[in-house]
Amino acid sequence: MEPLDPSLAARMHGIESSAVREILKLTQLPEMLSLAGGIPAPELIDVAGLAGAFQRVLTGPAGARSVQYSVSEGDPELRERLAELVRVRGAEALGEDVLVTTGSQQALDLIATVLLDPGDTVLVERPCYLAALQLFLMSGARVVSVPCEDDGLVPEALEAAIREHRPKLLYTVPTFQNPTGVTLSLERRQEVARLAKREGVWVVEDDPYGELRYHGAPLPLLKTCGPERVIYVSSLSKILAPGLRLGWLLCPPSLRPAVLVAKQAKDLHSSTVDQRAAAEYLTTGALPSHIERLREVYRPRLDTMLGALPQILPPGSRWTRPAGGMFVWVELPPGADALALLPNAVERGVAFVPGAPFFAEKERRNSLRLSFATLSPDQITEALRRLQAALNSRPEERRVL
Ligand SMILES: Cc1ncc(COP(=O)(O)O)c(C=O)c1O
Repeated sequence: MEPLDPSLAARMHGIESSAVREILKLTQLPEMLSLAGGIPAPELIDVAGLAGAFQRVLTGPAGARSVQYSVSEGDPELRERLAELVRVRGAEALGEDVLVTTGSQQALDLIATVLLDPGDTVLVERPCYLAALQLFLMSGARVVSVPCEDDGLVPEALEAAIREHRPKLLYTVPTFQNPTGVTLSLERRQEVARLAKREGVWVVEDDPYGELRYHGAPLPLLKTCGPERVIYVSSLSKILAPGLRLGWLLCPPSLRPAVLVAKQAKDLHSSTVDQRAAAEYLTTGALPSHIERLREVYRPRLDTMLGALPQILPPGSRWTRPAGGMFVWVELPPGADALALLPNAVERGVAFVPGAPFFAEKERRNSLRLSFATLSPDQITEALRRLQAALNSRPEERRVL
């Protein structure tokens, strides 16, 4: 890796070459069983349905419109369909409230652009979705993490952090969090919404995984528990196709003009043809049955992983037991080092993501994130067997990262 150029802007200081990223490139090898990706299983992507939708929006007199410049707010039909998806999740939304974004990652970027001055404090979950962490750090914010338990953010710790740090915003993934898979309980949702309103803190509810529930009943969105301070962000990436790069954002009216100007400045608008095809796909009514199929296939994958972990992890390990999403989070006994384990695991044909980079402050090197989404139950069993072999190998057999 080349040394970083000294003329880089200050916001890029502290970015590191990632040895982990280099190692995870090996996950492309055919014999590798990867528990690393946060991606939909490729065989489940409805390529035929999408191909039909693209074909239709590119055919006939409206075809040219599908590849023209378009409005920054997003394709009107798609905004209507996305508002329907939000209403299915139990929150109020109209098409005119929706801003279409280039993936939900851009929604997070727009929020950071309009709300954060350098030095502002952002509260995040401990651990936190990595790309959000990077984004907030790049906007010059001070990032402070709040502890999470099996039912999500700890309200008392959140209240104390708000008092101490006077944050501008709280970023949370309340449902099937990345990287832990945990879900904020109903009581805690109500408490977080109440605190945010009382203390005047913006809350970003990032919800790409909410539809991927395999057990139990859905919980109301944080937005439903207290809409005043909640900016809701979601995505088609995990439920339709990530390459479409389509997400959306719903924010309180006082933020909308600024968010729209930021969107114009960043990329004018999200890809017209992708939006038109997504709108067409959603209009056919194919999404609910597609999501049902995702649930049917992912459910046994999650169950297989949760069933096998007690046998393969060393005594003293802890892990989450999510009811949905794509991830299980493991904490090996104190002193274990998942970063050091990775090359060893990769040599044995299994990959995972070490947990350390997901921490805003003091990293916990004994943690790792396992995704169950892209492997069959049999492959998950085999991947975990290989992981166990790596865990059981003697230290002198290990390569150091
Ligand atoms: C919690 C969370 N937010 C946002 C994203 C970004 O998704 P996209 O930009 O594809 O919508 C991801 C992707 O993994 C994620 O896990």
